[in-house]
Amino acid sequence: MKFTVAIDGPAAAGKGTISRAVAAHFGFAHLDTGLLYRAVGARVLDGLDPVAAARSLTAGDLDRPDLRRPDVAQAASRVAAIPEVRAALVAFQRSFAARAGGAVLDGRDIGTVICPDAAVKLFVTASDLVRADRRYRELVEAGVETCLDEVLAEMRERDARDSARAAAPLKPAPDAVVLDTSELTIGQAVTAALAEIERRR
Ligand code: C5P
Repeated sequence: MKFTVAIDGPAAAGKGTISRAVAAHFGFAHLDTGLLYRAVGARVLDGLDPVAAARSLTAGDLDRPDLRRPDVAQAASRVAAIPEVRAALVAFQRSFAARAGGAVLDGRDIGTVICPDAAVKLFVTASDLVRADRRYRELVEAGVETCLDEVLAEMRERDARDSARAAAPLKPAPDAVVLDTSELTIGQAVTAALAEIERRR
């Protein structure tokens, strides 16, 4: 049976953690759609044209170890504003969403553009400072040298670009449930997400 969960929101709001937990709990497949844009961004940093990079993306491009780097995140956000780049990635995301066993996709436009008919739409958010602090800790753990101010500035720039663009901007779908994780532990955020999905199953 097709059952799609759309999880959108700004950078470091907890989408990835919640999506993985939801997928594991219900046995759904999970697609982190940010990786698609990061892979295109990484190829552009290598010198490729953005549209050509998006049209010729392969599974191997998604395995590159450099996709989590802050400069790749910025490059991803820049290519993500190009309508032809977004268009080249739609079919893959929709066919993933239609998987028989159920699927959870996280990103920026899943509930608004990719899967407007998703069974459940969550918009996961948190305050700027909480999100920057979480991302800072992740980066330090991954061995990236940075500081909190830099992470906060980078995140604000990316969120502003993602929200202001004309093509599939970052915003909650009208029928999305907004989950603010600022004051929640990971466990509480996951429990809240599972409860929303359970109500619609
Ligand atoms: O989620 P993540 O931080 O990995 O996404 C990287 C960038 O990819 C975002 O800042 C955004 O510009 C873009 N993106 C998007 N639409 C999606 C997922 C990611 O535009 N569905």
